[in-house]
Amino acid sequence: MAPEPEDELNEKNPKPLDEDDIALLKTYGLGPYSASIKKVEKEIKDMAKKVNDLCGIKESDTGLAAPSQWDLVSDKQMMQEEQPLQVARCTKIINPNTEDAKYVINVKQIAKFVVGLGDRVSPTDIEEGMRVGVDRNKYQIQIPLPPKIDPSVTMMTVEEKPDVTYNDVGGCKEQIEKMREVVELPMLHPEKFVKLGIDPPKGVLCYGPPGTGKTLLARAVANRTDACFIRVIGSELVQKYVGEGARMVRELFQMARSKKACIVFFDEVDAIGGARFDDGVGGDNEVQRTMLEIVNQLDGFDARGNIKVLMATNRPDTLDPALLRPGRLDRKVEFGLPDLESRTQIFKIHTRTMNCERDIRFELLARLCPNSTGADIRSVCTEAGMFAIRARRKTVTEKDFLDAVNKVIKGYQKFSATPKYMVYN
Ligand SMILES: Nc1ncnc2c1ncn2[C@@H]1O[C@H](COP(=O)(O)OP(=O)(O)O)[C@@H](O)[C@H]1O
Ligand SMILES: [Mg+2]
Repeated sequence: MAPEPEDELNEKNPKPLDEDDIALLKTYGLGPYSASIKKVEKEIKDMAKKVNDLCGIKESDTGLAAPSQWDLVSDKQMMQEEQPLQVARCTKIINPNTEDAKYVINVKQIAKFVVGLGDRVSPTDIEEGMRVGVDRNKYQIQIPLPPKIDPSVTMMTVEEKPDVTYNDVGGCKEQIEKMREVVELPMLHPEKFVKLGIDPPKGVLCYGPPGTGKTLLARAVANRTDACFIRVIGSELVQKYVGEGARMVRELFQMARSKKACIVFFDEVDAIGGARFDDGVGGDNEVQRTMLEIVNQLDGFDARGNIKVLMATNRPDTLDPALLRPGRLDRKVEFGLPDLESRTQIFKIHTRTMNCERDIRFELLARLCPNSTGADIRSVCTEAGMFAIRARRKTVTEKDFLDAVNKVIKGYQKFSATPKYMVYN
């Protein structure tokens, strides 16, 4: 019965595949052990299913065990054991570097305890005076914590480097030299100072009329060094509550000290560094207290250490003499008005990215701007661009520059702060 249709099929199809052929085709692309591996895999799956059946774990969306297996009591207990840690201060280490070292911790407003270490901290992690996290049962030290620093102080760190380089500063050769000497030399070659037995200068005060490139140079320094750069505007340290400004200064220097190398730049330091005076009411002492804390911190750190302090101001005459005395800010760098050559250079710097005519006589332009600062020259360049835009031209001509000089230098003369500055000093 059965063979008959098969025979028919054979007759109709001239070259039928026999069973061996099909088996051969099926093995195409398979490795020598594929079949046996597949068999073992299936066996494993079966076995796992059997185990699961015996255990009673059901596959579910939540991945939870079957309710019959829940152990709510011990889960609750485990949750209770994992309490948040408490912040404490390790005040003293008894028998340090031995097996049975003990730690005295001070939990704020509660008590002092003598405790051991948790399982997850090694004795080398904990130092005296460090903040630590302790558990609430045995008060064992569980994790070391970083020192407490005001978030607004942390924010002052300059993370991304400014794109200003020394090439963007026109003139100021001397100033750049002096600055690099104080900032870079002690950081790169401290051994020179050690050999000679002198302390390198701790800091630099930059002073000069507004717009002569004090902030600019500080930014170039920041760009140049790999050190951490902290920029503080003087007025940021003037705070509402008594003692806050001084605390911020302390935390600032604490943060600076924790870095490998660090430059702290106080811009517009006259906001806090004003000379002390007695106003008779005792009201405005807060600003002075902040300044005194800076003086203190300047004394505090080692001159060979890796912190350098830069300060910038337009009004050096108002600063407190205590801040300026040698040993605190040793170097005073004056940023004067740029001379002819520097002015030419500044013109070239600011027109570098502008679409100008070919041969503009920058020297002539520089000659036409006596007693002007870098900021003035920059303004001239911008105005020249404005003239070109007004005339619907795509390039800036020399005439635009001449017009701009007339407008900015002659026209705005009464706004210039330079003559006033000359009076102060
Ligand atoms: N020597 C200079 N070379 C090039 N640009 C300068 C120079 N001095 C000042 N400028 C320009 O003036 C602007 C203001 O200078 P800045 O350094 O902020 O002045 P301040 O000395 O008041 O801090 C700078 O952004 C820069 O464009
Ligand atoms: Mg400035």
